[in-house]
Amino acid sequence: MDYCHSGRIRRIDEAAIHRQLDSGAIVLLGPVAVSVTGESFNLTSEEVATQLAIKLKAEKMIGFCSSQGVTTQDGTIISELFPDDAQRCIEEREADGDYNSGTVRFLRGAVRACRSGVRRSHLISYQEDGVLVQELFSRDGIGTQIVMEGAEQVRRATINDIGGILELISSLEQQGILVRRSREQLEMEIDKFTVVVRDNLTIACAALYPFPEESIGEMACVAVHTDYRSSSRGDMLLQRVAAQARQQGLKKLFVLTTHSIHWFQERGFQPAEVEMLPKRKQELYNYQRRYKILVIDL
Ligand SMILES: CC(C)(COP(=O)(O)OP(=O)(O)OC[C@H]1O[C@@H](n2cnc3c(N)ncnc32)[C@H](O)[C@@H]1OP(=O)(O)O)[C@@H](O)C(=O)NCCC(=O)NCCS
Repeated sequence: MDYCHSGRIRRIDEAAIHRQLDSGAIVLLGPVAVSVTGESFNLTSEEVATQLAIKLKAEKMIGFCSSQGVTTQDGTIISELFPDDAQRCIEEREADGDYNSGTVRFLRGAVRACRSGVRRSHLISYQEDGVLVQELFSRDGIGTQIVMEGAEQVRRATINDIGGILELISSLEQQGILVRRSREQLEMEIDKFTVVVRDNLTIACAALYPFPEESIGEMACVAVHTDYRSSSRGDMLLQRVAAQARQQGLKKLFVLTTHSIHWFQERGFQPAEVEMLPKRKQELYNYQRRYKILVIDL
């Protein structure tokens, strides 16, 4: 097939680009490039960006598209995707006849970039002002990120994680920092848990108990292994749980805590009264423990 004047990237002059960057210049590359024989070829901007990000070993690639990000069927934006999930999204869109929208083209590039070592690719909208700032400087971002799966995985817990979770939380239970949970209880509630697993060791966990009638959720059993604290894993869990709660249509998130009041307050949680708890939880609320109730709007 004759592709006429559309082409593919064969070579990028990385040294020249690095020289410009090192001298403090900003490099802008258009989508038209020349071949060694001097002909001009049109490339897609997504391909230029992807190849460039890979070659320059960029930390991230950002794509401005017509949509704000990848959405679920009900229109909620998915804030994070692994390359395999993104690939599935591409295939779903292709099955619907969308082969060539900017979003699909960028997703293809993002999957390729991610699999070639670019840790993050952000998909955001060009239709709204200020999205770049919001994406990069807000905790949850506003669009969709395609991220590399690392040695450390953050994922929903399965029945196989129960041993790891019990090991992680048992000393905190003994110290009275976390409420005691039996193996049977964990088995029943395992689908509520998110875990951070590193080289087969469970290093952090958190659970989300939704109360859909009251549009509120409880974040509970938040624990980070002592060797892995102060590296934002607590923060990451909070982001995950908040995102899950939002996806479930919840409007608020609360925690009951005795030892980590300030940690939550520093992340925007506000003290609240027992009446604010969902009915079922109010009945169980144990005054003797003197938990502090903290709540945040999602
Ligand atoms: C609270 C907890 C989850 C934080 O995990 P983490 O991964 O260390 O958190 P981050 O890395 O995101 O944040 C670290 C910051 O929080 C501070 N911090 C940690 N625990 C804190 C606490 N209990 N109270 C106040 N601040 C705390 C750290 O000093 C650090 O501050 P810095 O950034 O100024 O150095 C972790 O300390 C933990 O597992 N605690 C025991 C269990 C618990 O209390 N759970 C909450 C009840 S559900």
